[in-house]
Amino acid sequence: MIADNVEIYPDKQLFGDDFAWGVSTAALQTEGASDTDGKGESIWDRFSDAKGKILNGDKPTIACNFYNLYEKDIDLVKELNIPNFRFSIAWSRILPDGTGKVNQSGIDHYNKVIDYCIKQGVEPWVTIYHWDLPQVLEDKGGWTNRDVVEWFTGYVNICAKSFGDRVKYWMVMNEPAVFTGAGYFLGIHAPGRRGLRNFLPAVHHVVLSMVAGAKILRELLPSAQIGTTFSCSHIEPYSAKSRDVAAAKRADALINRLFIEPVLGLGYPVNEVTALKGIEKYFKEGDEHNLYFDFDFIGLQNYTREIVKYSFFTPYIGARLVKAERRNVELTAMKWEVYPPSIYQIIKKFNTYPQIKKILITENGAAFPDNVEGNKVDDPKRVEYLKTHLRQVLKAKQEGCEISGYFIWTLTDNFEWAEGYHPRFGLVYVDFETQQRIIKSSGHWYASFLR
Ligand code: NOJ
Repeated sequence: MIADNVEIYPDKQLFGDDFAWGVSTAALQTEGASDTDGKGESIWDRFSDAKGKILNGDKPTIACNFYNLYEKDIDLVKELNIPNFRFSIAWSRILPDGTGKVNQSGIDHYNKVIDYCIKQGVEPWVTIYHWDLPQVLEDKGGWTNRDVVEWFTGYVNICAKSFGDRVKYWMVMNEPAVFTGAGYFLGIHAPGRRGLRNFLPAVHHVVLSMVAGAKILRELLPSAQIGTTFSCSHIEPYSAKSRDVAAAKRADALINRLFIEPVLGLGYPVNEVTALKGIEKYFKEGDEHNLYFDFDFIGLQNYTREIVKYSFFTPYIGARLVKAERRNVELTAMKWEVYPPSIYQIIKKFNTYPQIKKILITENGAAFPDNVEGNKVDDPKRVEYLKTHLRQVLKAKQEGCEISGYFIWTLTDNFEWAEGYHPRFGLVYVDFETQQRIIKSSGHWYASFLR
């Protein structure tokens, strides 16, 4: 039951009739059933088995059990009046060996999810890759092995042919800067590799794969809307000193521009971050023509802003992020600053690129500690976060930016990667012991807003 009398602001009408409203999720974070019905092991299954990698030793083995409870959760999407549901496909469910033999149960499963969305009047938006590489491919070098372009396009081909008759909206990849940066440079996400020698080839092969995948979708599904999503944060220098200003510019190149610019045909931002020149080593003849794709939309995902300071001790970049905890600002459970103007700034920033046709916010949301009281979860901070961010999106729209959608992260509380189950981002609370769901007041707010 959806509660009435929830305060609504800003008005949905102000965004226009063709604005896409949605909610986003990802396979690894929600599905569970990590070795059910022929699914292969993913890098996150392996990473979470190792000691000390995930907070509290949490594992994605069961998560929200979306694999079995998908009807219930899609019913919730409908109950919350959310017209668009974004979820991802697990590569290792479709191809347990990464390539080769297709696992029919995997195909059947996503057919059921897609068909159920359609039955309930919910539009499915599919992300092809949301960080869960099959472990067998990682054993062969993962994103650092150039063969990954072929492995990935093989997988995209199967997705397009199996689901393209019903799925109109596709996102090739999710936040490449995060899965390469955290997974192949810092080693804090799966597969836990470090250093430039892993990071640079991974970056180049991810861009080539993203573009090759998009081309396959365009060829096989000419009327589909094809996008891809990027993490981005508004960046400000710590002070007006020229070395902090220059450090902020370098951080911006790495955090916001590294993946988006080559895809737009602008090349890697090597002038700002000279270490990126090392990517050249991984170039093969003709690559410069295969880094660009004319995406129908670009998904931007924003949660916070970053303050950047010059740092002599940080190799390659000479810049470091000043932690939000040290800045006396409001924090989420991720220790990220609550700073709504960041979303406005990033929309404005990317709206200046003439190559971008359409921007959608494909993720925005916040984790706060939630408590169940009398079978209710009251989360006023999340409601406030969403309203204040929406106001900023509206401001950008009213100033003429090509912004045409907004998806909240996320439907249900779920497995937050290296942070495990501790941060709760959902509009719907999940009791991970019983798998009981409770719509939070933020869920009721979104439902009223969308009514
Ligand atoms: C971005 C990622 O796409 C998603 O998987 C993650 O849970 C959220 N941000 C929150 O950190």
